[in-house]
Amino acid sequence: MSSLFRTKLDKKFDDRTARFHTSVVEDLRMFEEDIDGTLAHDIMLHEQGILEKEDLVKILGALQEIKQEWRDGKLEIGAEYEDVHEYIEARVIEKIGVEAGGMMHAGRSRNDQVLVDMKMVSKKELIEIAENILNLVQVICDVADTHIEDPMVLYTHGQHAQIGTFGHYLLAYVDQFLRDYQRIKQCYDRVNYNPLGAAAIGGTTLRISRMRTSELLGFDNIQENSVDATSSRDWAVESASVLSILMGNISRFATDIVMWSGKEFNYVNLSDEYSSSSSIMPQKKNPSTIELIRGKSAEVYGALQELMTMVKGLPTGYFQDLQQTKIPLWRAFDTTKTSVEVLTGAIKTMTVNTDTMLAQTKGSFIYAVQLAEVLAESELSFREAYKVTAQVVNNLIADDRTLEQLTAEDVTAVAKELFGKDIKVSSGIAAKVSDPIEALNNLRSPGSPHPAEAAMQVENRKELRERYWKELDFMKIKLVIAADNLKNAIQTHTA
Ligand code: ARG
Repeated sequence: MSSLFRTKLDKKFDDRTARFHTSVVEDLRMFEEDIDGTLAHDIMLHEQGILEKEDLVKILGALQEIKQEWRDGKLEIGAEYEDVHEYIEARVIEKIGVEAGGMMHAGRSRNDQVLVDMKMVSKKELIEIAENILNLVQVICDVADTHIEDPMVLYTHGQHAQIGTFGHYLLAYVDQFLRDYQRIKQCYDRVNYNPLGAAAIGGTTLRISRMRTSELLGFDNIQENSVDATSSRDWAVESASVLSILMGNISRFATDIVMWSGKEFNYVNLSDEYSSSSSIMPQKKNPSTIELIRGKSAEVYGALQELMTMVKGLPTGYFQDLQQTKIPLWRAFDTTKTSVEVLTGAIKTMTVNTDTMLAQTKGSFIYAVQLAEVLAESELSFREAYKVTAQVVNNLIADDRTLEQLTAEDVTAVAKELFGKDIKVSSGIAAKVSDPIEALNNLRSPGSPHPAEAAMQVENRKELRERYWKELDFMKIKLVIAADNLKNAIQTHTA
């Protein structure tokens, strides 16, 4: 088959240049979307009186045949085609001749065509990733729910900081991932504008209906300005960007899990299904799937970087550079999707060693803030109470004692020594600042690890999750309705 587009040119691409120039490989992912885009476009052309009924029927038949051949794995699309757009048009013409088939591309360009295809694929991918995030959130919430009373050291700078619970820690990631969901949903809404009908850059003299193709392809609206519609890729950059943020969040979570599955912490044990071993060290159980989640975040950041670099210096309008945007975008979708899935499975199947977590709180000075806060209720200011507590802690360490052995005198003596103040300290002070359950129950601030606070978060996030599932269902239903509309339109016009 000779090229559809090289009429003006005397010479062909040589094989190497053809392979260099073609986008067929990355286009395969949107093969069916490309056919659907053309079905919708040509139905609209006919409804607008631009395409004869007889030609439409032939085109619809040929396109449906090609879709079937594709599904049956019968098609071989080589580098002699610039892209799937050329391939499909050439194949339609081969099947029904250039008089009918030659009408299928009227009123559009590959520039708006490729964008409508990319956006259709991206919308599906964004929905799937959003679903994956809600699944992950559900799993983490379930695990969190069983651990809101299990004490754990909270760390800052890698050092013992304050008392917390494993459930409350997990809820922190629930909230981060819910924000990832929100970002993806908002990104989806901005992707959801139909570029088809913008033609190459400046529209068409044909009286097309851009709303009709939007309706048949499941877009909420048209991307109105034809220069914007064909030139912009900010929606692709935004997609890679929200996915990068998500990967950054899961990557940090992964780091905790990797660290905590080591012998020194031994807070969690990954299930064997998510672990690997060593080629030489027979004792090894490596959390390598979780390490890979962290590693693969680099791939998604790379995709974002690639996209941003591709578009930043381009003059307005289509340039062939833009053909390259599909490659990193697909990679970002694939890597993010599997990373979230693997993480979900790993969290669901890991075991949590609450005893080891509890043991770390024993003898720890993580309650020092609470001691200072108790003292600040007396005649000491917070800074004075802080200084008294620091001195008390130093004294305890020097005597090889812990907060469990704290006496009221330990505190009153330091207050007198440092500030000349006689303060009253209750004899129950040691329990208040060394018993993890009591310390947790003494927390008063909203959002703290107090078990009641965490329980409220679990409930509330459950509701939020339900709302988001409904939102996603609604988005999916709209796509199903569009697919039905397209099917019905094909039936009506071919009947
Ligand atoms: N293969 C191209 C791409 O992926 C399609 C648009 C090409 N347009 C053009 N005028 N060469 O971007």
